[in-house]
This record gives sequence, C-alpha cells and structure tokens, in this order.
Amino acid sequence: MRHRASFFQLALIAVASAVVMIVVAYAIPWLPYPASREAGRINFVYWYAEWISIVIFAAVAAPLFYSLWAFRVKRDDFSEDGPPIHGHTGLEIVWTAIPFLIVTSLAVASAIVLAKNGRAGTDPLQITVTGQQFAWTFTYPNKQTYPVLRLPVDRHVRLTITSKDVLHSFWIPELYQKQDAVPGLPTHLVITPTRTGDYPVICVELCGLGHSLMRSEALIMSQNDYDAWYSGATKAASAPAPGGATAGLAVFNANGCSACHTFTAAKATGKVGPDLDKLKQEAAGAHEPLAAFIKQSIVSPDAYIAPGYQKGVMPTSFGQTIPGPKLDQLVQYLASNAK
Ligand code: CUA
Repeated sequence: MRHRASFFQLALIAVASAVVMIVVAYAIPWLPYPASREAGRINFVYWYAEWISIVIFAAVAAPLFYSLWAFRVKRDDFSEDGPPIHGHTGLEIVWTAIPFLIVTSLAVASAIVLAKNGRAGTDPLQITVTGQQFAWTFTYPNKQTYPVLRLPVDRHVRLTITSKDVLHSFWIPELYQKQDAVPGLPTHLVITPTRTGDYPVICVELCGLGHSLMRSEALIMSQNDYDAWYSGATKAASAPAPGGATAGLAVFNANGCSACHTFTAAKATGKVGPDLDKLKQEAAGAHEPLAAFIKQSIVSPDAYIAPGYQKGVMPTSFGQTIPGPKLDQLVQYLASNAK
C-alpha cells in the first residue's frame, strides 16, 4: 500500500518540476523569433534538446525531493547508513543506453539541419559581405556596394563573407546563424528569409575600438519591393557619369565611412571617429587647406589626430583600397558638404 502512495507522490513531484521548467522555458523569450528557414531548423533542434532537458530534470528532481522528505533524519534517529548496494547490471544498461540514444538522436538531428542549412538551391541570390573596421558592406550582382543588406523574402541567398583587415563575425540574431569574416578566406552562409522586417546586423568578434558600433541593418522585403529597389539601384549605378555629389556619396557608403563618422549630408551618425560635419574646424586646427586636409586624413589618418581621439583606430588601408579618381570624388564630396 505504502509502495503505491510513494509512486503517486514521485509522479506528482515530477509533474510539478516539469511544469516549473516549462514555464521558465516558454514564458521568457530566450531566443528571437526565427526569420528564416535555416533559423527555424536551428530553433527545432534547440527545442528538441530543451524538451529532453525538461524530462531529465523532472526524472532527477522527483526522487531527489521525494528522498529529502521521506528519508529525512527523524528526531532521536541515530541509526547507521543502510547496507551499501552495488552492481545492478540491468540498471547500468538502462542508464548507459538512454543517454546514448539521446546524444545520438541529437547528433543526427543536428547533422540533418546542418546539411539542409548549407543547401542554396540551384539559383541563389549571391551577395558578398565585407567586414572592415568598423562597418559591413554588401556587394550585389550589379557590382554595386551598399551599407544596408536588402533581401527578398522566400528566396535562397548565398552570402560570401570576407574581411579587408582583421577577424570579424557576421550575425543577424533573428537568422540565428553566425559566420566569421576572415581576411583571405571567403566563408559562406545560406539564408532563406521567411519574414519581412528590419533586423540588426552585428559584429560578434572583438575587432578593435569600434567593435561594439560595427552594426548595420538587414531589410527583408517582399519580392516586389526588392525588385523595385534593385532595378532602381542598378539603373542609378549604370547612369552615365553620375554627378559629383552622388558619386562621392557612393564612395562614402561603399567604404563604410558612415559606420564611424557623423556626416549630415550622408545621413551618417557614426560615433567612433571625428564628426565630419566639423571638417572645416578641424582643417583650421591642423593649419591645412580643407581638401588637402581631408585627403591626408583618409590616406594617412594618423598624421593628424583630432582632439579627443586616438591613433590607430581608423584603418590606414583606404589609400590603397580606394582608386585615385574615387578618392578625389570622396574628398570633393566631403569638402563641399562640410559645414
Ligand atoms: Cu568587427 Cu567586431
């Protein structure tokens, strides 16, 4: 009789423990809601492991709490421990077999998800993601580079991720996947967005002083909106000899200047480097003509450091990576829009 009662109590504690775990798991939004097919699969593996944990927690908590209560030391009970028990082949087989099955099933589920998440289909949209201190830029099949990642919903996208300087890591929380950006070693990520919206792009590898500000945004758009943007952007890029301002702004955006600098004309609000709206003041402080000062600041940024800033933060590679004519367009654009 006593046997049946204790089994009932055990079951009751197990259910109560499971309920506590379920509330903790579901009531708190631990993970962002997935916005791609790949994220959905990763989410599935997460919840699969979560449910195994809930069951194991309940199975361990029940005998633990039951024993604490039922076998606690009673007043004036000075008896010794019970006789030691060891060697129970059946029990040992069970507690080896169950974890083996759990771990194997997790490995199989993860392997299937990894394999599926690597498949980009036959005609993915190919975009190159470039990390550099301290900005992300995105190059599309029209060979143009933009500071914002725009993706059509429900289409396979294959990102090729590279870095111009140090290690960075590309992450959009709602898409779950993370991928390192390694100089000289292109890495890849397949994304199939399922939800339109505006999501943050974050660098998750400590890459220097501006690391925490190395952010961009990903706009997941309907196919129609995306097509409209893409054809407009492509037309603008192939328009004959764009005016000085447009060309300069394009160079400004393509090189990620907006990630670090504030510049009203370009709607840039970066805070890592000096405010470019104050270029005239800075040039006066450095006793140099405006255009020459701007060019020097881009090509050899450590030659003059604005008060309150440090050497070695701005990359010194722009002199090599921006071709001469584009550099001139950029200098002209900055000079003519500086206040
Ligand atoms: Cu790039 Cu951190």
